[in-house]
Amino acid sequence: MKALVLAGGSGTRLRPITHTMAKQLVPVAGEPVLFHGLRALADAGVNEVGMVVGGTRAQIREAVGDGSRFGLRVTYLWQEEPLGLAHAVSIAGDFLGDDEFLMYLGDNLVLGGLRSMVDGYRAERPAARLLLAPVADPRRFGVAEVGDDGRVVGLQEKPAVPRSDLAVVGVYLFGPDIHKAIAEIEPSARGELEITDAIQWLIDRDLRVSADVLTGYWKDTGTVADVLEVNRHLLRSLVGSTEGATHDSEISGPVVIGAGADVTGSTVIGPSVIGPGAVVTGSRIGPFASIGEGCRISGSAIRDSIVMPRSSIAGVRGLESSLIGQDVEISRPTPDTGGHQLVLGDGSRVGLVS
Ligand code: TTP
Repeated sequence: MKALVLAGGSGTRLRPITHTMAKQLVPVAGEPVLFHGLRALADAGVNEVGMVVGGTRAQIREAVGDGSRFGLRVTYLWQEEPLGLAHAVSIAGDFLGDDEFLMYLGDNLVLGGLRSMVDGYRAERPAARLLLAPVADPRRFGVAEVGDDGRVVGLQEKPAVPRSDLAVVGVYLFGPDIHKAIAEIEPSARGELEITDAIQWLIDRDLRVSADVLTGYWKDTGTVADVLEVNRHLLRSLVGSTEGATHDSEISGPVVIGAGADVTGSTVIGPSVIGPGAVVTGSRIGPFASIGEGCRISGSAIRDSIVMPRSSIAGVRGLESSLIGQDVEISRPTPDTGGHQLVLGDGSRVGLVS
């Protein structure tokens, strides 16, 4: 079985971060969300990966390389435009051939369940096998209706009146019939070739579509709130370690202090990660803070946030629920005129309390 990992897309909901960065590379608990997915594939024994990439292909290729450090063999497949999940499958035709494959959305975190899904697929070899998860508000998701025999009898995309509370999670297993389906469907109202339409095509022709219900954790990191939630979730199982140096500081709970990092005169509350080479002075970090490699934090307080590599934050108290990109500078203005001074790129979002 092969895997098709979707790491293209436009990431509009994560702008401005995605103006310059692939959303699959946004670090959660100190590591790109994509890496967690690649490891899950290797754990499930699916090692031959086609990676669909778009405008951010150079970054993805640099980060993942040939996949060998994850125990995978990665082939890059360029999707010139993000024309939908089914379109991504169609451009992978030569790579996939008539093989069965697992499609994994590269911005999703799915913990547990992949291997049993693959085993379930192999036992019955349906046209498609979906992974479903019960959700509180199904209207925001693709929703599956499952019959008494466990077959999926219908799919709805972001329905106003959902027929179940089972959302379609970003892992799918397909046999070769999916290519016929994709060749037959038309682009949706938003101009994309939708994988749900292709699966519905299979159902309408009475081809077997089955499902597993996920018991583990799942989250699609489409929005800032989702990214921060995934960060918190992964940090909850963090195992602390100290490779860097600490001086006159109080460290409590699980905290990772990376190689070459320096924490002085600070309080770090776990779970939190201080990346390699980061310098933290006179600050209060955490809980749930992921500070990237080479950041410089002084006289500041940061909790429940992700700060990406090489950013500097000085004299800023009360930073929370924030996603801060690479090479960002946040400081108190000098001279202090009492006003806020902002230089923000297109699509930036700032919440000020005074
Ligand atoms: P989505 O989150 O559905 O789409 P998007 O990345 O374009 O984001 P937004 O809605 O905020 O604009 O994509 C799910 C995953 O599939 C994600 O990893 C990107 C990837 N993808 C592709 O590789 N090709 C595509 O054509 C699309 C639509 C998504």
